[in-house]
Amino acid sequence: MDTVIEQAQDFTDEELAELLEKNSEQQDQALFQKADAVRRMYYGDKVFIRGLIEFTNYCRNDCFYCGIRKGNGQARRYRLTEDEILRCCREGYALGFRTFVLQGGEDAFFTDERMCGIVSDIRGGFPDCAITLSVGEKPKESYAAFFRAGADRYLLRHETADDWHYRKLHPSGMSLENRKRCLYDLKEIGFQVGSGFMVGSPYQTTGHIIKDLRFLQELAPDMIGIGPYISHAQTPFREFENGTLTLTLRLIAVLRLMFPYALIPATTALGSIDPEGREKGLKAGANVVMPNLSPEGVRKWYDLYENKISTGEEAAQCRALLEKRVEEAGYRVVTERGDVRRRL
Ligand code: 5AD
Repeated sequence: MDTVIEQAQDFTDEELAELLEKNSEQQDQALFQKADAVRRMYYGDKVFIRGLIEFTNYCRNDCFYCGIRKGNGQARRYRLTEDEILRCCREGYALGFRTFVLQGGEDAFFTDERMCGIVSDIRGGFPDCAITLSVGEKPKESYAAFFRAGADRYLLRHETADDWHYRKLHPSGMSLENRKRCLYDLKEIGFQVGSGFMVGSPYQTTGHIIKDLRFLQELAPDMIGIGPYISHAQTPFREFENGTLTLTLRLIAVLRLMFPYALIPATTALGSIDPEGREKGLKAGANVVMPNLSPEGVRKWYDLYENKISTGEEAAQCRALLEKRVEEAGYRVVTERGDVRRRL
């Protein structure tokens, strides 16, 4: 492989549609190979690990696809105390994690003040670690306060870049416009920003996905997370089919080619629809995995979708096993912070 592909590859809409829709083993293999070559150019064989702490599953939102939506009266709700969160970090640090991702529903209990307290305590205790937040839509001032308290990164998937589709996935009161506002605010404040969308979500068309890719080009996020939509029985979307492994892998590869520099996780959702999903994701261009650092007892309650892997090998405690699987796939787990690498 020569160094021709320093810049991001641009595709026409037609080319994208063909890469995503055409069922050709040969085309897929060529796509994955090319994506892997680009990934190796930027990141070698490194796989970055992030310790995921799902610290609350209370949520004020009612997204039609999500298992922890407010309207799910059967969800068993929990929130971790600050001590529990810090304990997760200590355990994670000992296991080699240098990024902690605090993810939760939009839970009013965690006021800005509480969030800032938690973030600054983690910042003080683990100065060499990155702190990533994933707690939804907030006013710009709240984001700015989190940043000042010591958070470095923020994950907020846009979910879909098409207005009509956004309204099919979310109740009124939520809007694509506000999502985008949040993402641009986060960028302006100085966060490393992650966005992304579900693959195969209800009503999604290839046209929508192309719009997602165009929006991502405009936003130029540091991190891009995608995973298959997986249905959940206690949501209005219970009857819809899951997204497929194949389409998700094709999209990971396309993302790698369009955003060579990006941090792209092989997500839990991908690992949940196929036992080898995450390894396949890495081979298609992903370079991050996010094992679960939450206390074991609560993991099953953070059920965004059904059959989420949560007790086995995805657990942070099974790092040795993860390392072995990553190695078998042809890569290497590293324990550095894993910040974005914008150019070669
Ligand atoms: N299937 C797959 N992913 C889901 N998410 C929420 N619900 C589901 C589901 N049913 C994703 C959303 C959200 C992220 C935290 O999890 O994209 O942004």
